Amino acid sequence: MPLVEKICQFFKLLAKKAKSENTWTLSMKYKFDDRIKFMLDMVKEVPYKSVMDLGCGNQDAKKYLSPAVEYIPVNYMNQTPNTIIRDFNKGQFCEREADLMLGSGILEYIYDPLPFLLNVSKHCRCYFCLSYVLGEYRKEKAEKWVNSLTRDELLALLDLAGFTLIREEWYQPNHQKVFLLSKKSL
Ligand SMILES: C[S@@+](CC[C@H](N)C(=O)[O-])C[C@H]1O[C@@H](n2cnc3c(N)ncnc32)[C@H](O)[C@@H]1O
Repeated sequence: MPLVEKICQFFKLLAKKAKSENTWTLSMKYKFDDRIKFMLDMVKEVPYKSVMDLGCGNQDAKKYLSPAVEYIPVNYMNQTPNTIIRDFNKGQFCEREADLMLGSGILEYIYDPLPFLLNVSKHCRCYFCLSYVLGEYRKEKAEKWVNSLTRDELLALLDLAGFTLIREEWYQPNHQKVFLLSKKSL
């Protein structure tokens, strides 16, 4: 990419960060059913009775959960009815607790990952399943993503937030990973 373009992108990102403007918009079409299925398959090995879906989007996770599992959908916009409206970039968080926190495609949109992860940990009783497009493997410059952590940086933040890694799997080889973590106190 030419240097001028790189500099322009850098300043655009700075301007957004200054405003803490959410970069996700409804016009961004997506279909992440497969990733959600993949993540819910991964958590089959752990017990949980409630799930908080962080950045729940269309609440696709709900249809793959047993009706016995309590589902707590949280998002900054009312994309789907019954969503609990909280903007993680404003430091807001759902006051409730859940056994399992599901973070499918949310961390990339968070300007300050550590305060967000500390909030996840505070409201998490047991497990956290998180997807992330790793910084060191990103080929494209995705303007909508407002952070770019390497695997080591991400794991260091998760450790600081009080999580221990149980398992990690490539969802898209050499691009996107899914991490299953537990609270250190368990
Ligand atoms: C890539 S989509 C993922 C949707 C869903 N989790 C999935 O995997 O199908 C990102 C979601 O995060 C939500 N989101 C983005 N920024 C947010 C913020 N600051 N606070 C809460 N939700 C946010 C968006 O509205 C969107 O629904």
